[in-house]
Amino acid sequence: MKIIIIGGSGGIGRAFVELLAKRESVGSIVASYHQTTPVFQHPKVSWQRLDLANETAIQSWSEQLDEIDWLINAAGMLHQPDHGPEKSIRQLDPDFFLKNIKINAIPTLLLAKHLQAHFKHGRKSLFATVSAKVGSIEDNRLGGWYSYRTSKAALNMGIKTLAIEWQRTLPNVAVAALHPGTTDTALSEPFQKNVPKEQLFSPANSVNAMLSVLDALEPHDTGKFWAFDGEILPW
Ligand SMILES: NC(=O)c1ccc[n+]([C@@H]2O[C@H](COP(=O)([O-])OP(=O)(O)OC[C@H]3O[C@@H](n4cnc5c(N)ncnc54)[C@H](OP(=O)(O)O)[C@@H]3O)[C@@H](O)[C@H]2O)c1
Repeated sequence: MKIIIIGGSGGIGRAFVELLAKRESVGSIVASYHQTTPVFQHPKVSWQRLDLANETAIQSWSEQLDEIDWLINAAGMLHQPDHGPEKSIRQLDPDFFLKNIKINAIPTLLLAKHLQAHFKHGRKSLFATVSAKVGSIEDNRLGGWYSYRTSKAALNMGIKTLAIEWQRTLPNVAVAALHPGTTDTALSEPFQKNVPKEQLFSPANSVNAMLSVLDALEPHDTGKFWAFDGEILPW
């Protein structure tokens, strides 16, 4: 299998790279990073720098790739050094909102746009993105985090729409949105203090759980939002 992991330098992305590299069925992994130089090295893994906010970069990077069996996008953002997620509408800042859209929602669709030819081989394949349960409109009980929630809801709509299009044009591909559970990474670190210990997963535990879900997916499962434990979440 030929696998692409986008955001392989992040907490969750790195666990995907490490766990998939151990599998005999996996022949090669192309993993992307942006600002964080990757530390994990493995003969099956080649690291490539990619800025997901730059469509031209995504396009030229895509052109040098070959056939793909699995693509998992594990890149994303929740906060920046000078900006946390909003507690109240008073804190809404259009620049921060658009940054969330630019990193959380648009890249998955640009990857689909520029990589779709690489899935035309007809083998059962997977195109998955790590979303977040807080992007579920129906499940929103707490409010807050306007920019992040909205960007993940937009991502979810993009995934659902892509799944419908690819059922016609790439019926071998299962398109999936994933919720990893609260996972101990730099992204969640400032918000972990109220999370009960048993509900804070290590990246390896979260990714192992998501891999169990992904391993079982068939093309007819396309267009769904999966939690790490196999529950189908409402959009
Ligand atoms: N951790 C959680 O509890 C949790 C819960 C729900 C959903 N999620 C989702 O899971 C995904 C992974 O999050 P994480 O917790 O692993 O976060 P993380 O450790 O902060 O990793 C974020 C990743 O996104 C990449 N990235 C950010 N901006 C980028 C850009 N412009 N171009 C390319 N790559 C970029 C980073 O690359 P560099 O570091 O190389 O710049 C890094 O690989 C995100 O989509 C997040 O929303 C996480």
